[in-house]
Amino acid sequence: MCGIFAAVNKTNVTNNLLGGLSSLSYRGYDSAGIAVVKQGNIERVRASGKLHELENRLHSYPLDGNIGIAHTRWATHGIPNEKNAHPHMTSRVAVAHNGIVENYESLRRRLETAGYIFESETDSETISQLITYYLDLGLNHEQSLCKALLEIEGSYGVAVIFQEQPKTLYAARRGSPLILGKGDSGFYVSSDINAFSEDVSSITYLKDGDVAKINRDGFSVINLQGEKTPRLLQKLEKDGCESGKQGYDHFMLKEIHEQPDVFERTWRHYFNNQRQAFQLPEFSVPDNEVNSITIVACGTSYFAGMVAKYWLEEYAKVPVNIDIASEFRYRKAPLDQNSLAIFISQSGETADTLAAMAHAKAAGLRCISFVNILTSTMAMESDTVLPTLAGPEIGVASTKAFISQLTSLLIFTMSFRQQAHNKHKAQQAKESMEQIPTLLREYLSDTSSIQNVAKLLHKAENMLYLGRGIAYPLAEEGALKIKEISYIHAEAFPAGELKHGPLALVDEKMPVLVIAPPDDLFAKTLSNLREVASRGAKIILVSTRKGLDLARDYVHAEIEMPEIAKQFIPIMYTLPLQLLAYYVALGKGHDVDQPRNLAKSVTVE
Ligand code: F6R
Repeated sequence: MCGIFAAVNKTNVTNNLLGGLSSLSYRGYDSAGIAVVKQGNIERVRASGKLHELENRLHSYPLDGNIGIAHTRWATHGIPNEKNAHPHMTSRVAVAHNGIVENYESLRRRLETAGYIFESETDSETISQLITYYLDLGLNHEQSLCKALLEIEGSYGVAVIFQEQPKTLYAARRGSPLILGKGDSGFYVSSDINAFSEDVSSITYLKDGDVAKINRDGFSVINLQGEKTPRLLQKLEKDGCESGKQGYDHFMLKEIHEQPDVFERTWRHYFNNQRQAFQLPEFSVPDNEVNSITIVACGTSYFAGMVAKYWLEEYAKVPVNIDIASEFRYRKAPLDQNSLAIFISQSGETADTLAAMAHAKAAGLRCISFVNILTSTMAMESDTVLPTLAGPEIGVASTKAFISQLTSLLIFTMSFRQQAHNKHKAQQAKESMEQIPTLLREYLSDTSSIQNVAKLLHKAENMLYLGRGIAYPLAEEGALKIKEISYIHAEAFPAGELKHGPLALVDEKMPVLVIAPPDDLFAKTLSNLREVASRGAKIILVSTRKGLDLARDYVHAEIEMPEIAKQFIPIMYTLPLQLLAYYVALGKGHDVDQPRNLAKSVTVE
C-alpha cells in the first residue's frame, strides 16, 4: 500500500524515479509525486490521479537532480488530491512515507503549537515536520531523523532527502518493506524488488529499525540509537518470471493465462522426483499431534483458505476453523495449543494477516504461511513457509496467486497426516496433476462464450453468486472479482441459504450466477436454481454439458466446463469467474488492472 522509490545517481534521477513508480503503481495509484535536491533546494512536483498525470506535470515543470525520492499513494488520511500527495516537505527536508503514523494527531497538535504550519491532512506530514523541528533545535540530519522516527507510533517505510545534504539519501523502515539496490551508476531504494531496473545487480533488505545513509558510492546502516548495523549486499537473483504484459492488453489477462504454468510450477516444486513423493518442509509439530487447523487470511486469500477447509475436512479428516484476519486478531477466541495456524497471503505484507499471526504466535500456536513473496515479512516471521510460486502478480485483482494458493493447499491436504508417504497415492496424484495444465490451457484457448455472457451483464447493477459445498467459496471469489473490477454489487451465498432471506432480492432484473459442478450436491443446487428461476431471475449456470442439459429449461446463459477430477474442480471453475469479471469490466471501460479505491498489498489496518 503506497510505493516508495528513491535514487542517488550520477545523472538526473527523474526517469529512474518515474520508472520505479510505474512498477510500483499497483501498490496505490490515487496520486504520485517526486522531489529532488537541486542546487541546494528541494524541488517537488506532485499530481493527483494516476502516474500519467505526474508525467504530464513533469513535462511542464521538469525536475533535474542527482538525488530524489518518489511516491505513489493509496489514500488513508486525507482525500486523494495534490495537497495530500507525497513527498511531504518543509524547506529543509522531504519525506516519502508508506505506513501509518498512529499518533499523528498528538504530534501534529504539538508541532502546530510550536509554530509549524501543516499544508496537508495526512498523518505522513508529521514526519517531515518533526524532522524539521529537531533540525531547528540544532540536531544534525541523522539525529533529527532518528529522533523523529523514535517518536512515531505505527509503521513506516520512509525515503528522506535534506536540503542541506544534497548528496545523501536516507531510507528507514519499521513494518513497511524497503529494499536497497546497487546499480552501475548509483543506489536505489524501493518498496518492491520488482521495481528495480536491469541496472541493479545486488540488493539488501532493510530490517525493522534500520536507517540507511546512502550516497552514490556506498551506504551504511545504523539503528535508531545511532549504532552501526552492517547489512551486506547480495546478488539479485532474477526469478525468471516474465515481466511486462507480454502482448496482453492487461496484466490481469496475462496473469489469468499464466495459470496453467503457475499450477505446474507450484506442484512440481513440492514433488520430490527421487522419492517420487510430495515433500513438504518439516513442521515442528508432527501432524498426527495436530487436533485442528485454524486458517486465517483476507480477501481472495481467505477464499483460498475456505476451499482448503473443505479439502482438509474431507480428505485429511481434520477439523478446520477459518477466520478473516481482521476479525481473528481482535476476537477473544480461546486458541487450542494443538491447533496448527495457517496464514495465506500473496504479498506477505497484509497488515491484518501479520497482526493475526502475531496474535496466534503469542498464544503459542505453530504458524505456517502460504506466501507468494518469499522475502516478505510474513515469510520471515512464520515457523514454516510454503511458497505459492505464482510469480509477481501486478493486476490488483488477484488471479494467479489464488490458483497457486489452491495448488499448494491441495498438496498440503494430500500430504497431511502422512498421506503423501503412500507411494502409490503420490504416484496417482502426480499423474493426475500432469493432466491439469493441458485442460486449463484448452479452456483458456477459447474465451468467446464467456465474452458473450459478459455482454449480458454490462448493464447489471446487482448480481448473486450461488454455490454449494466447495462451490460456495468459489461463488465468494467470483463475486469479489466482479465487484472489484466491474463495480457490480455482487453477493455470494451458499445456494441452500437463499430461501432464508436473500431470495427476497430476486426478480427479473437480478442475474444469478450458479456454480454447479457435477458432484453429489448437484441435484440440491438444481432445486435451488429452480427456486430462483421461478422468481424470474436470469440464471447463468456454470457446469458440465450434462449439468447444463439437466437445467436447460431454467437457464438464461451457459458456461460450459470440461469434466475434471473432483479435487481439481475449484481450480478449473475459477477460470470462468475471473474471465467473466475481466470481460464485463472491459466492456464497461474500466481500468482493469487498477480498479478504483483499491491497491495491492494492504499494509494498513
Ligand atoms: C482480491 C485481492 C485481495 C487480496 C487481499 C489479501 O482480488 O487481491 O482481496 O487477496 O487483500 O492480500 P494478500 O493475499 O496479499 O494478503
